[in-house]
Amino acid sequence: MHHELVLILDFGSQYTQLIARRVREQGVYCEIHPFHLSTEAIAAKQPKGVILSGGPSSVTDEDAPRVENDFYDKAGAPILGICYGMQLVAADLGGTIEPATRREYGHATIKVLSEKTALFDKLPFEMNVWMSHGDHMTRMPDGFHSVATSKDIPTAMENHERGIYCVQFHPEVAHTPLGKEVLRNYLFNICGCKGDWTPASFIREEIEKIRQTVGPDGNVVCGLSGGVDSTVAAVLVHEAIGERQRCIFVNNGLLRYREFEDTLQVYEDNLHLNVTGVDASQDFYSVLKDIVDPELKRKAIGSKFIDIFQEEADRIGDVKWLVQGTLYPDVIESVSLRGASVTIKTHHNVGGLPEKMNLKLIEPLRELFKDEVREIGRDLGIPEMILERHPFPGPGLAVRILGDITPEKVQLLQKADRIFIEELHNFGIYKDVWQAFAVLLPIQSVGVMGDFRTYEKTVALRAVTSTDGMTADWARLPHDFLAKVSSRITSEVRGVNRVVYDISSKPPSTIEWE
Ligand code: XMP
Repeated sequence: MHHELVLILDFGSQYTQLIARRVREQGVYCEIHPFHLSTEAIAAKQPKGVILSGGPSSVTDEDAPRVENDFYDKAGAPILGICYGMQLVAADLGGTIEPATRREYGHATIKVLSEKTALFDKLPFEMNVWMSHGDHMTRMPDGFHSVATSKDIPTAMENHERGIYCVQFHPEVAHTPLGKEVLRNYLFNICGCKGDWTPASFIREEIEKIRQTVGPDGNVVCGLSGGVDSTVAAVLVHEAIGERQRCIFVNNGLLRYREFEDTLQVYEDNLHLNVTGVDASQDFYSVLKDIVDPELKRKAIGSKFIDIFQEEADRIGDVKWLVQGTLYPDVIESVSLRGASVTIKTHHNVGGLPEKMNLKLIEPLRELFKDEVREIGRDLGIPEMILERHPFPGPGLAVRILGDITPEKVQLLQKADRIFIEELHNFGIYKDVWQAFAVLLPIQSVGVMGDFRTYEKTVALRAVTSTDGMTADWARLPHDFLAKVSSRITSEVRGVNRVVYDISSKPPSTIEWE
């Protein structure tokens, strides 16, 4: 029931999802599809616009990713080519693209050539933009005119008759300050979009959709994790079918300090979810006993979780549906131009649950990005404590205790971690980092207390900045903050005499230590 749709054909750029987010921020719903979507399929979706993303390839290569031959005539909507997208348009329609002698990467100033341009309508004649390309266009295709240049080379071109618009720079990145305006011109002036897609309209439509999908019989279960995604999904489904949704929140004994108790209370008292809290800590500690290998820890936790979840679902009876908080980045068919990516860790801890239990899925957030989920969560009245909480891995503290897991180590780590997080809030910098946590190392070192030598544990602090967790940098936290955390941990957490700060980026490290 989306009224307006813009399609983004993905040529493998790291910025493709960013284009989608920028378009949606304008209230225009958009979808990302692989570049090889057929023209027929594109036209059948009746898009208001089609955007060709950037990408790492060169159009001069024989096996370069392309659109179908009839695309430019039959897509049925104005086309915007960005970076590689512009070069593809130029190459396909009779222009010339020359391979790079040198990559152009970074800030550039462009000159807008006339007032009669659709893309730069009402924008200044000089703009800062972000470039990231190798090849460049040496001859424009017939029928196009140059509307902006960078160092006298065309950097944007338009063909009004055919409805094709191209920019060499990246309007979607923050380094192009007026990029948003260029996209607005494309969406509203050129494509004629109205911008009627809002979180509130999404919520209304989704609730209706869930009601219709679920129908009148069978129970619905939802596994809550305490995180944003499962909570927002559960609240949406609750709005749709109320008490017929039965939520299960499992304490695996590996959550953060008081997380189980506090979150359960929010679920029950604030959000009025029909939720059963299952404290299975001891079961998890038993299966984890003596396991040291990180992947074996993940497997043991995943399979125990499935057993417990299934037991609870059997108790409920007649369960037909499972609610999952799957997000859009998980469902986009990713374009792999550099070979299949390698699974470094098994992240989908409960993968296989729906198949095993023969359940149908309800995934109300499948079309959304994380920041949209947060916004919708806010509209639904979900407390900030849940919406803004840092991401937390399914296997929890098990992958932050290096070596074997014991309840005592978990308690010690919970205390140290709580101090770290509490101080981030006290200093007002919790939101500045993507994720922050403490790690318990499997080593002891010598310290001194009064007249005595100690031989105790080491805690590592990890804090990173990131936009998606795929890459990350260590957070430059203030020294006085680190000093405060360190002194609180060594004085308040018995058994710890040393605190270190992790200064590794991802890659080559990972965010978690296991
Ligand atoms: P890494 O350590 O791979 O983490 O840089 C990237 C993001 O994924 C989270 N993570 C996990 N999440 N199950 C999860 O649900 C896991 O096994 C797992 N391992 C890592 C991590 O916290 C970070 O946000």
